Amino acid sequence: MRLERLVGKWAGAGKRRTREIFESRKVVLNARICEDGKTLIGRFDQVEVDGAVVQNEVPRYVMLHKPQGIVSATSDPEHQTVIDLIGEEWAGRLHLAGRLDRFTSGLMILTNDSCYSESLTDPSKKVGKRYLVEVDGEIGSEVVSTFEAGMWFAKEKVITAPAVVHLLSPSKCRLTIFEGKHHQIKRMFASFSLKVISLHREAVGDLELLDELEEGQWMEFSPSR
Ligand code: URA
Repeated sequence: MRLERLVGKWAGAGKRRTREIFESRKVVLNARICEDGKTLIGRFDQVEVDGAVVQNEVPRYVMLHKPQGIVSATSDPEHQTVIDLIGEEWAGRLHLAGRLDRFTSGLMILTNDSCYSESLTDPSKKVGKRYLVEVDGEIGSEVVSTFEAGMWFAKEKVITAPAVVHLLSPSKCRLTIFEGKHHQIKRMFASFSLKVISLHREAVGDLELLDELEEGQWMEFSPSR
């Protein structure tokens, strides 16, 4: 957006008055006086007018080790949420870059930077989400080949992107999927009458859940872009 729009709105000023505010050198953008109201700014640019803070949002990127039983939502009338686990004053301004079912544990990413979260969740970006999965039966070769080919999801009328499967034992695998459809992994196995008994997300793209993060713990990180 243009800086003059933000300043005009904040000051409740029309075009002429907004121009005057800029001409009087009262607008400071990222610690420098800015006289050009047409300057394009983003959500994390710092803006002051005559010493008053107009915009000062710090970008936040949080990696959380979600335990089972916690809801991946920003609020819930019944259950504890991932936002409750963070418990900082700024936590309520975060949103989730992808969800996990209540029963699933592992890596969750929360941020206030929608460009970053979209870069992870937009299906066209094909970002891999890697899970450790255990099911209540044998993961046969037909299951593996179907997952790797992509499978028909009747509800959405789509074929899933080809997944990557590494068998770890007859009933356990590492599975990487490239979209995030509702209950996707459970539904993939359910179509072979297999029930997921444990599901843990280890990585999203090149971001790995750090070993030192215990369940319920979180840390801020700087994304590599
Ligand atoms: N697939 C599922 O079924 N559940 C999740 O939480 C994530 C992927």
